[in-house]
Amino acid sequence: MCGISAYIGYREAYPIVINGLKRLEYRGYDSAGIMIYDGQQMQLSKTKGKVSDLELITDKDEKRKKGTIGIGHTRWATHGIPNDVNSHPHLSQSGDLVIVHNGIIENYDTIKKELITRGYTFKSDTDTEVLVNLIEEVKKNEGCKLGKAVQLALTNVVGAYAIAVFDKTKPDEIVVARLGSPIAIGVGKDNTEFFVASDASPFVEYTKNAIYLEDEEMAIIKIGKGVKVRKINDDTRVDPIVLKLQMSLEQIEKGGYENFMLKEIHEQPKAITDTFRGRLLAEENMIKMSSIEDNLDRFLNANRIIIVACGTSWHAGLVAEYLFEDLARIPVEVEYASEFRYRNPIITDKDVVIAISQSGETADTLAAIKLAKSKGAFVYGVCNVVGSSIARETDSGAYTHAGPEIGVASTKAFTTQITVLTLIALKLGKANKSLSDEVFKNYLDKMQMIPKQVEQLLKIDEHVKSIAAVYKDSKNCLYLGRGFNFPVALEGALKLKEISYIHAEGYPAAEMKHGPIALIDENMPIFVIATNKGHYEKVVSNIQEIKARAGKIIAVVTEGDTQVRDIADHVIEIPDTEEALTPLLTTIPFQLLSYHIAVMLGRNVDQPRNLAKSVTVE
Ligand code: F6R
Repeated sequence: MCGISAYIGYREAYPIVINGLKRLEYRGYDSAGIMIYDGQQMQLSKTKGKVSDLELITDKDEKRKKGTIGIGHTRWATHGIPNDVNSHPHLSQSGDLVIVHNGIIENYDTIKKELITRGYTFKSDTDTEVLVNLIEEVKKNEGCKLGKAVQLALTNVVGAYAIAVFDKTKPDEIVVARLGSPIAIGVGKDNTEFFVASDASPFVEYTKNAIYLEDEEMAIIKIGKGVKVRKINDDTRVDPIVLKLQMSLEQIEKGGYENFMLKEIHEQPKAITDTFRGRLLAEENMIKMSSIEDNLDRFLNANRIIIVACGTSWHAGLVAEYLFEDLARIPVEVEYASEFRYRNPIITDKDVVIAISQSGETADTLAAIKLAKSKGAFVYGVCNVVGSSIARETDSGAYTHAGPEIGVASTKAFTTQITVLTLIALKLGKANKSLSDEVFKNYLDKMQMIPKQVEQLLKIDEHVKSIAAVYKDSKNCLYLGRGFNFPVALEGALKLKEISYIHAEGYPAAEMKHGPIALIDENMPIFVIATNKGHYEKVVSNIQEIKARAGKIIAVVTEGDTQVRDIADHVIEIPDTEEALTPLLTTIPFQLLSYHIAVMLGRNVDQPRNLAKSVTVE
């Protein structure tokens, strides 16, 4: 949450930092700000709202844009309402230091009170203004340089942070530090320029060389000299590893689509193919995943698999529960990472924990991993972002290879997570002989067809759009599914509520009569997944129960279905496949439906209100 973008070098900093902030807006968009140093003065511009609102201010005065050093921020509010004053960057009392911060300083109130007794006054309600003044106070008292002052100040801080700090009395360096929130440093040619950002997207067109700070590390980035990395707590020197970025500019642009969400929905055939690459070898009748092969005994001898995740990734975990139990006969529990971490859970070294996360930065999931590791469990990660904190913290894992997901509502991350988890379930099922060779082969053949089937499904866009037009003004919606498709019902409801702000709930279809049925009347649309092999007759009965109460039925069925077609108000057909693979298909119409309803209601689908991607606070 919150995006940091900074530049120090020989180019004009403003366009680099502003474009960087735009690319990081998925991390929060409550307010935005930028500081540009023109060689003498720091020009500070900040406002409530988005980066485009910030540009309205800077465009009025070219002076605000001139300079080769810049630090910017896009905020998801934690402490202090999102207004102009609480926006970052924040200046220290003397006006010499400026900071941007992503995270939460938990003991800020105690520090603030202490600083007030020392004569400090505060303009904002933020923990960040407290931190910059603490750094200033340490620098003054110790008579040290900025890097040392940052280091000493951080040892007094409880919480999570990624920070970038600049001192106008020493204008050839930027100091950065991280604990719990990511910081990437882009290294320019011959140390003539450097970029700092929450992920590498702001500088991908300038350099492919990136250093990712680890937790409890800080770096002093100095023009002409390079990047010096140290451990914050014990001051040991760390040799930074410079990674070669794989990301391309094309991947992080909209490529002709109206918005990122639509682009990412349409990227799914390719994303799933990329997830298969080198793993699904249908012709050789095998699934190749070295991270599973290397740890096969752990998986096969596990007491159980515990899946931890949040939000959409948690829904993918629920699908995995059905997959692992059905295909590999391994018991599975699925936990919200935020509950698991504080529940004093019983974990042993016989448990395998799978952590699922698109961003690889979600604070609760990261904490759950650390807890599981401390109890001796083997932790396996399923992440999309390469090199992310979760990818590094886990013992082993598999990337989903979906490519950057920028729309805040997760789409291709969900389907590629399910893809990886299906491959793992099949591989384990084959290894422990829960699946016969014949059944395994059939699954591989059917899996292979999924990208084409998703492509075919995306062509129903106009049909889904016409259904969206009918129900866009609904106040409440229900989503029902059973078995493998119960989690898809939950995900369908989440997608609708998060981008259209229409209240929606997902339920296992049979649970309807234990409560939600009371809500049904002629105004209530109910989206039901009724695929041909998944408890079909039971779901048809549930549909009849809705019909009897005048509810509007929109059913997702297998192509060729006639029985549900006769009862439902609308049907959406998906291609035929094995029931265990249907979540990869049934989820697509729900994504399109939410998308169209949100667009028709005039919502910003890429940046829904109050949300942010990559939730690095708990
Ligand atoms: C919903 C959505 C969120 C995320 C959740 C976990 O569309 O995107 O619910 O799924 O915040 O994020 P990751 O997967 O990055 O850990």
